[in-house]
Amino acid sequence: MKARRFAKVSPTLPGPKGADVVRKTAQYVSPSISRFYPLVVESAHGSLVKDVDGNQFIDFASGIAVLSTGSTHQKVVDAVKRQSEKFIHYSYTDFYYANVAELSEKLVSMVPGSFSKMVYYGNSGAEAIEAAMKLTRNYTERPIFLAHSGSFHGRTMGALSLTASKPIQRKGTLPLVSDVVHFPFPYCYRCPWKQTFPECDYFCVDYFKEQYLEKFVPVEEIAAYFFESIQGEGGYVVPPPDYFHKMEFLRKEGVLFVSDEIQTGVGRTGRFLGAENFGVVPDVVTIAKGVASGLPLSATVAKSEIMESWKPGQHASTFGANPVAVESALATLEIIKSEHLMENAKMLGEKGIKRMLEWKEKYEIVGDVRGLGFFIGVEIVKNKKTKARGEEEAKKIMDYCFRHGALVIMAGRNTLRVIPPLNILEEAFTEGLDILEEGIAEVNSATARG
Ligand SMILES: Cc1ncc(COP(=O)(O)O)c(C=O)c1O
Repeated sequence: MKARRFAKVSPTLPGPKGADVVRKTAQYVSPSISRFYPLVVESAHGSLVKDVDGNQFIDFASGIAVLSTGSTHQKVVDAVKRQSEKFIHYSYTDFYYANVAELSEKLVSMVPGSFSKMVYYGNSGAEAIEAAMKLTRNYTERPIFLAHSGSFHGRTMGALSLTASKPIQRKGTLPLVSDVVHFPFPYCYRCPWKQTFPECDYFCVDYFKEQYLEKFVPVEEIAAYFFESIQGEGGYVVPPPDYFHKMEFLRKEGVLFVSDEIQTGVGRTGRFLGAENFGVVPDVVTIAKGVASGLPLSATVAKSEIMESWKPGQHASTFGANPVAVESALATLEIIKSEHLMENAKMLGEKGIKRMLEWKEKYEIVGDVRGLGFFIGVEIVKNKKTKARGEEEAKKIMDYCFRHGALVIMAGRNTLRVIPPLNILEEAFTEGLDILEEGIAEVNSATARG
């Protein structure tokens, strides 16, 4: 095993302690939870994760895009301790406490749009989506939701009705919420119409108008259009620059724009929201994952006029806006600003993407590299010409990274994602990329040998 500065792993993974945890978990924990590899975490600090057998990994997964400020940032730990010693819970559904008002004031100032906004709090991404679904139907008094195929908005019954990522997520659960219409996302590398950007001149938008709005979807009955500004679980798919502008015609018809920023938000793309990279100002925004550096908290931020359509009792959750999570969110937003984490994500992300784009030239199995900031996907193929999805190849690379000390995970069927904490050190980021490139090179050679 190569000597490295950050990644330090023994040849046998998991080690004996890890293997015990994996065994016990298999016996007692629901099998519905799928795992990428047997990482059994003991501790994590900054961008380094240690397992129970003493192995150390570079964090390229951020606990699935959650650890925006890295693990156990001192200011976050202090905030959690401070609040825990005061009070841990007092149900915001029925009573008041001050830090929620403070966080709401901060969030509405950070979410784009020069109009007044209000916040609803839940505990998870799916809950933020459920709230946005109920809210937009309530405000518009319309039934239909638009969402994209390939999208991921969560797995609870409402959110799952919007999700169109993998059939297994719906298996055995149907029927779901009615009147959700899915249409293709502009996935230019795999254009469903075999067109090429920019010559296509956004054929996808014309197709949507002709085949959906003119054939079976009454536009005046659409409540909201839910979208991820960059598709996450769908494979880190970046839309062409004017796509959302071209879809703005829907707003003239009274359709609300809901930007699901659960994965792209809180600075990950180098802007506070992913949507800001495309100049779109949503009516409703859903935020979760990175907002509280690992504590469960989600926020549905909406134009005040929309939020005020709800009457007391129409929606709430006992644990929503837990005071410890809120204090952690306040610390997170402060750190992101004072330590220039969006700038770091943008600067290092651009450097990383530049290096990864060279892999496209060097390795037959690297089909596409795309992303913004620290929201980066590397799509693996069997063959550049056919673009046949390299699912096994991507899994082998992911496994290589794990066994060599970098926590890389998949998005979609054959895309590897690089989503380190926003404050990862350049040296650790570079070492992680070295490991990823070695894995790609090894699998590429094996594929070439057949
Ligand atoms: C874009 C997006 N929306 C919603 C969710 C659901 O969030 P949660 O798992 O917290 O319910 C996710 C989770 O990966 C996501 O990436």
